[in-house]
Amino acid sequence: MKSIAVFASGSGSNFQAIQEAIERGDINATIKLVVTDKPGAYVTERAAAKNIPVLALSPKTFDSKDAYEQAILAELRKNDVEFLVLAGYMRLVGSTLLEAYPSHIINIHPSLLPSFPGKDAIGQAMAHGVKVTGVTVHYVDEGMDTGSIIMQRAVDVVDGNREETEANIHAVEHGLYTDVLKQLFN
Ligand code: GRF
Repeated sequence: MKSIAVFASGSGSNFQAIQEAIERGDINATIKLVVTDKPGAYVTERAAAKNIPVLALSPKTFDSKDAYEQAILAELRKNDVEFLVLAGYMRLVGSTLLEAYPSHIINIHPSLLPSFPGKDAIGQAMAHGVKVTGVTVHYVDEGMDTGSIIMQRAVDVVDGNREETEANIHAVEHGLYTDVLKQLFN
């Protein structure tokens, strides 16, 4: 049974999808901790509803990124966390966590990388007028959305309708992340 931590900065729908897949017995893992850089993020409410502890730290209350990540690392170690799953975590992971979890950090990104890395990937894709976009799960390295790709899934763009396209992307994300974690841990 793999012990994981989920990192999120926002709504946490990917966290919820993963936790529910675990509850169904689909993924051989347990979420020991939800880590967020946004104490008020909705993901904290989703975690509370699932009785999963939350570590909410605001980076600006630390002297450096290293100090912030050392504080996270101490809590990860206390909970015997083996693997980090980023799901809407809007920060670059620094050397402290990368060195502590080599090849044990993954991320989900709402585009077919290497297209449209970084912020608002969906908006970038629609602005480019692509007909097909998608979702990527990749290992995290020191770059932004640059680590080796694990799995991808295509999503048709609904012309001129960002809301519908985004909803379709999120639905695909939830299934894709579950499939990746099954492949990695089962
Ligand atoms: C997802 O689209 C993910 O791909 C991106 O941020 C979003 C997080 O959504 N990195 P949620 O917080 O999991 O609902």
